[in-house]
Amino acid sequence: MERSGNDYNVVWLEEVDSTNNYLKEWFRREPLGEGTTVVADYQTRGRGQRGNGWSSEKGENLLFSLLLYPKGIKANEQFILSRIASLAVKWVLDRFTGDICIKWPNDIYWGEKKIAGMLIENDLLRGEVTRSVVGIGINVNQRRFPAELPNPVSLRQITGVEHDRARLLEAFLQEFFSLYGGLRERLWEGNEKLAELGVGQAGSRDRVRGRHDNGGELDVGRVGSREEQWEVIACAYMASLYRKDGYYWYEDHNGRFQAAIQEVMPSGHLVLKTLNRGEVRRYAFKEVVYVSS
Ligand code: BTN
Repeated sequence: MERSGNDYNVVWLEEVDSTNNYLKEWFRREPLGEGTTVVADYQTRGRGQRGNGWSSEKGENLLFSLLLYPKGIKANEQFILSRIASLAVKWVLDRFTGDICIKWPNDIYWGEKKIAGMLIENDLLRGEVTRSVVGIGINVNQRRFPAELPNPVSLRQITGVEHDRARLLEAFLQEFFSLYGGLRERLWEGNEKLAELGVGQAGSRDRVRGRHDNGGELDVGRVGSREEQWEVIACAYMASLYRKDGYYWYEDHNGRFQAAIQEVMPSGHLVLKTLNRGEVRRYAFKEVVYVSS
């Protein structure tokens, strides 16, 4: 998909209950093109993960939902959309500050604080994703957050200056479609971030994957098939992951344990290797929590 600067269909609203809800109701009423984006200055019932809310002061942050009609993404591979959206948010924020990483599955962190979150809602038909609403909240200019939020931070708090939300949105859409569109084209061409990671150069796979390399050869100089492009996105995601190296504390229904991240599967499952026994454990979202050190 070729898109230049500002040809996205973006609708900016003052107030909605939730941009995800608004977009879903809208496409039930009339056909909407891929890339249709609903942005709101304020959400009266912003929705977060795990049935939580998403709170944001009026006019301060970037709250939006993007409509996609993916082709050929199987239900058990739908995590590719999370990977792409997370990388796009990270790459936009990287323009302003260091230390941005992706906390599995798709929270965006600055150090130990959360700067953005996403709620991706997919429609499935015959085992494939036919439609996706990618809802994203980025803390941009908010100076103070309610005390009950565990660890929020905004771009303004990090950089000390205000940021233009419309420009951030445009940057996000460009980053997002450079990857998403790349699933149909040669992914790395013209993608600066992947070039920085060395994608497209000899030996780049090792540099990107580091210790997460599970073996097998991929000559990224000849990456062309969809599978290979997905692998490149997975590598870039892995390279950006919070706690990607070393052992940390986690907690599951059996209690606390130390483990290292081994991989994140195409289904989105997190694979951890325990320190004590070297046991490999696989978790779906909500089955394991990160324990702060
Ligand atoms: C989370 O981390 O809990 C996910 C937060 C997702 C919030 C965004 S804001 C725009 C879109 N509309 C919603 O109601 N939720 C998402």
